[in-house]
Amino acid sequence: MATRTAGAGSFWTARKVAWYQRANARSDYAARVLAAADGLVAESRTALDVGAGFGALALPLARRLARVTAIEPAPAMAQALQASAAQERLGNLVVLEATWDAIAVAPHDLVVCAHVSNLLEPGSTFLSVVPAVAWRGVVIVRDVPGDGDKFFFGELYPRLLGRPYEHGCEADDTLRALIGLGIRPTATTIEYSSDQPFESLEEACDFWIEYMGLPPDARGFLRGFLGERLRREGGGWVAPFRKRAAVIQWRTRAGRT
Ligand SMILES: C[S@@+](CC[C@H](N)C(=O)[O-])C[C@H]1O[C@@H](n2cnc3c(N)ncnc32)[C@H](O)[C@@H]1O
Repeated sequence: MATRTAGAGSFWTARKVAWYQRANARSDYAARVLAAADGLVAESRTALDVGAGFGALALPLARRLARVTAIEPAPAMAQALQASAAQERLGNLVVLEATWDAIAVAPHDLVVCAHVSNLLEPGSTFLSVVPAVAWRGVVIVRDVPGDGDKFFFGELYPRLLGRPYEHGCEADDTLRALIGLGIRPTATTIEYSSDQPFESLEEACDFWIEYMGLPPDARGFLRGFLGERLRREGGGWVAPFRKRAAVIQWRTRAGRT
């Protein structure tokens, strides 16, 4: 079932969503996040996933819990999530196509919000109001910089965009903000595979051109650069990546009793 209340998200094209889905299909991301949050998940019957994307976490949660609500404003993401839920016959998953602040949602046992920068950065209203809609607990996932240089950006930014690739520790920012709000969360660092497969080197060039907003004439350089760094796999190519994240969680009302 889908409810549409707002249009948003021109950043997420159907092609970008499909790239993410292909990477996620071979990733242990959801397994690692849900293992770190297993205590809260096991105590929950219902979950609200805010900024659910194509359902990397909402789908496994719906397989496990009685009811899941997914809030996702980008049409391409919401449609992909809807299609996966229909394919798996997950009638207990409701997709609300809207931003978090555009709708009023009833409390759920568990609220999950993973990799949604504008909601998780210091000063965001979401961080102060989220405990009111979580009966048992909240789980937040944010990047932690690791050894893996995400998509070779550290090398490519200076060469193609003439500026350094700057990437702070998002998890520390959120933790500081929560502590400032009087919340005492726990944080578990997880590491997971985020390998990105491509059918061809040309498709890999499309990916970097789109992600970095490069002009079409960057293709020649990229073809040589990626041809040396990507790994051959079957008839295609893979960009191998390990990623790190912090699973930040705390108990709310019912969980404290
Ligand atoms: C990087 S994706 C993460 C998706 C998913 N949570 C995951 O961990 O794979 C961020 C998602 O948050 C959504 N989003 C961005 N701003 C939002 C907001 N204000 N309210 C709800 N969702 C939002 C985007 O459309 C996008 O699908």
